[in-house]
Amino acid sequence: MVPGRLVTLRPMEPSDAEALWRWNHDPEVMRWMDDGYAQPLAQVRKRMEERPRNAYGDVLHGIEVQEDGRLIGLVRLRDAEPETGCAELDIYLGEKECWGRGYATDAMRTMCRYGFEKMRLHKISLTVVTENEAAHHVYRKVGFVDEGRLRQVFRRDGRWYDMFTMGLLEGELRN
Ligand SMILES: CC(C)(COP(=O)(O)OP(=O)(O)OC[C@H]1O[C@@H](n2cnc3c(N)ncnc32)[C@H](O)[C@@H]1OP(=O)(O)O)[C@@H](O)C(=O)NCCC(=O)NCCS
Repeated sequence: MVPGRLVTLRPMEPSDAEALWRWNHDPEVMRWMDDGYAQPLAQVRKRMEERPRNAYGDVLHGIEVQEDGRLIGLVRLRDAEPETGCAELDIYLGEKECWGRGYATDAMRTMCRYGFEKMRLHKISLTVVTENEAAHHVYRKVGFVDEGRLRQVFRRDGRWYDMFTMGLLEGELRN
């Protein structure tokens, strides 16, 4: 368990598969994310059951609201390499009614602190579709800076969108 101020990060359980399946099939949640191909619930459950344990190269945490213990989303630090001290971060909140309450901001800070303090990372990077203004705002608020713009790398509803690449160095996390 990794406690934040409003949320607690915890390992994902096979019993979380149903929530995950629901989020991944919600077009509003997936609006600016790679939604892949639709999967049956049984497949998602199997994937969760067979998922290797969290380790340096791939840490997946569920985001739980401290007030009521409800799972509302997930945050992941992946592709960490000890040689470079760099990792990539992904986050989303699948429970839409929980948007706008500061939960993602708190989950970002908590996961980045975990990355820098426990995993001794030097840098955390992410990408975000330029139109995803809420996410871009949250990332900047916690200290990420724009490092580049990838032209037309995200396709949705027949249109191409650009993405920002963003980075946060050790010592740059803002509270
Ligand atoms: C993006 C997301 C993670 C934000 O989570 P959240 O819990 O609502 O974020 P918070 O409540 O911590 O903060 C939201 C901030 O964005 C701001 N915001 C909301 N909509 C905005 C918009 N359209 N433009 C600019 N800022 C916006 C809010 O005012 C708030 O900022 P403030 O605290 O300075 O007032 C969440 O909406 C989500 O998971 N969306 C779907 C999946 C997704 O897009 N994930 C990111 C992929 S890169």
